[in-house]
Amino acid sequence: MKNLSGRVAFITGGASGIGLGIAGALVDAGMKVVLADLRQDHIDEALAGFERQGRRQSVHAIRLDVTDRAAMAAAADETERVFGKVHVLVNNAGVGIQGPFRGITYEDWDFGLAVNLGGVVNGLQTFLPRIRSHGEGGHIVNTASLAALVPMPAQFVVYVAAKSAVIAISETIRGELAQEGIGVSVLCPGPVRTNIHEVAKNRPGKFGVGEAFRQAEQSGATQVPFPSMMEPSEVGKLVLRAIQNDELYVITHGEWRPMVEARLAAILAAMPTKLDPALVAMLQGRQAEGGK
Ligand SMILES: NC(=O)c1ccc[n+]([C@@H]2O[C@H](COP(=O)([O-])OP(=O)(O)OC[C@H]3O[C@@H](n4cnc5c(N)ncnc54)[C@H](O)[C@@H]3O)[C@@H](O)[C@H]2O)c1
Repeated sequence: MKNLSGRVAFITGGASGIGLGIAGALVDAGMKVVLADLRQDHIDEALAGFERQGRRQSVHAIRLDVTDRAAMAAAADETERVFGKVHVLVNNAGVGIQGPFRGITYEDWDFGLAVNLGGVVNGLQTFLPRIRSHGEGGHIVNTASLAALVPMPAQFVVYVAAKSAVIAISETIRGELAQEGIGVSVLCPGPVRTNIHEVAKNRPGKFGVGEAFRQAEQSGATQVPFPSMMEPSEVGKLVLRAIQNDELYVITHGEWRPMVEARLAAILAAMPTKLDPALVAMLQGRQAEGGK
């Protein structure tokens, strides 16, 4: 989407960190932005920030839990009432869930998958029909993670499972949506200075937590120290460029390149080299048709 001015964006987890960085960049580009977020303290702080910058009229905040489908539909209605048709959907809300794999419980799986994967599914199911119906095109940004592109320790299994699925969803729907004038990007951030470690504060009451994960959260083990962190405003600029140029992958850091290369090399090395020519010809034909 080249022309964003006056258009409307809906950003989940938009009141803190990366979501807020994206919101700032989209407001800079002339968009009206809805910050849809679970936490009132984040919303209050974010709105105060836009107020100080004299840009308060460009944003509207909605308290939303992305795992609540009825609330998501109501938030879409409210967005259309306040700002009009939505063109850009940013499925960004997420929790940095992690804890000892040996102690993981169904509750931990259910919470992590519901927010980090289910939130993206709910965003697509709620907003895609609305974006399609106005026929003016649009763009979807899904926030995954670099963690889903490299080998990670087992303590991140729920997080990586969800984020891998978010990458796969983005790659898989991109071809079909392109034919409808809707672009798709998947954001894979490395370390960014945000509140991602505040997992316990971001667990809606309907979700439980296993004892091992609760202890990990209380001990501060969910806060991973990095020698440097990117600022969310920088990520926002990368996402803005991806929307304007319809880039599929938005990857914030190159430092993990050797790990990505090693993973891809291992996958390629595991593939047989003895091939069926008929199958190769069929697949080449499909590729020429755009991967159908
Ligand atoms: N910060 C990083 O280093 C990093 C790296 C890779 C991926 N990510 C991803 O970036 C996204 C944004 O995270 P962040 O780092 O900006 O963290 P953050 O905690 O600063 O922001 C996330 C926002 O999402 C909101 N949120 C959490 N659960 C929600 C729910 N159920 N419904 C609605 N809103 C909810 C939180 O209130 C918060 O405002 C997440 O998907 C995260 O997994 C972050």
